[in-house]
Amino acid sequence: MTERGSPLKYRLLVTRHLPAPVEARLSTHFDAKLNADDTPFSPENLIAEASGFDGLLVTPADKITAALINALPASIRIIATFSVGFDHIDLAAAKARGIIVTNTPDVLTDATADIALLLMLGAARGASWGERMVREAQWSSWSPTKPLGLDVSGKRLGILGMGRIGQATAKRARAFGMQIHYFSRKPVASEDALGAIYHETPLALAPHSDFLSIHCASTPETRGLVNAELLARLPKPAVLVNTARGDIVDDDALITALTAGTLAAAGLDVYRNEPNIDPRYRTLTNAFLLPHLGSATRDTRIAMGMRAADNLEAFFGGKEPGDRL
Ligand code: DGY
Repeated sequence: MTERGSPLKYRLLVTRHLPAPVEARLSTHFDAKLNADDTPFSPENLIAEASGFDGLLVTPADKITAALINALPASIRIIATFSVGFDHIDLAAAKARGIIVTNTPDVLTDATADIALLLMLGAARGASWGERMVREAQWSSWSPTKPLGLDVSGKRLGILGMGRIGQATAKRARAFGMQIHYFSRKPVASEDALGAIYHETPLALAPHSDFLSIHCASTPETRGLVNAELLARLPKPAVLVNTARGDIVDDDALITALTAGTLAAAGLDVYRNEPNIDPRYRTLTNAFLLPHLGSATRDTRIAMGMRAADNLEAFFGGKEPGDRL
């Protein structure tokens, strides 16, 4: 990507090591500084390294706060995030400085919905426990009663946030004979709802959710939404699944419910303050825990990188980026 009327390429700072086809494309179109050894930047390093660059390609692991944005050099005109979520970027601060922000929707919908199903099954069937038994040579005999998990088939699935990933999760759950209930800020079109039953509030959804799967964005309105009151309204037994963002859940409330057994199990891919999660989660035998793998497939990560590159190339080519926030 050349500057208009100049053989020079725009300078792009890429904060993490990306799949090879993505880095090859970025290096072709930009004067790209890649991060081959994948060492995360501290905020101070990112500010210092950004000097002389025109754009940043960041990930959810980079906390792009107002303080960081305000300290960026004036040359930075765009921040493209390699993610659909953008709660790690202070959009208002970026806007105030005239910096464009883009994300990568659509391309990770299926991979993330797949992980939601994995978490439902893994949590309901005690997959962590079972795997530990085998690996640690603790499996002494087939047992008719120990342990017993929960059925997924035929149960009610509550979807909190019926956007792209919520709908894709519902589609998969229908194949398990699940009945779908949901809450969104407004009902989705009937062709997207496919018979799913709308509830006007998260609290109204809860009693219909043998499984509750979180798919809303992390915003000031949704932070802490899944709290003690909501968890208490779930049927017994129930399972909570989170592939969205950790801060939508009140950790104290969830850990209390899992410890007391009032919530049967949880399947979690995301956490508040990743990767330094609340250590109590590690001791809970009824929690099935993954390290934010929602979009982590080869094809999906390439597609995310290509989508970020589309946005950057559009912007520096003088066009409106497709995924401008
Ligand atoms: C996203 O894109 O926001 C995902 O959380 C990354 O897996």
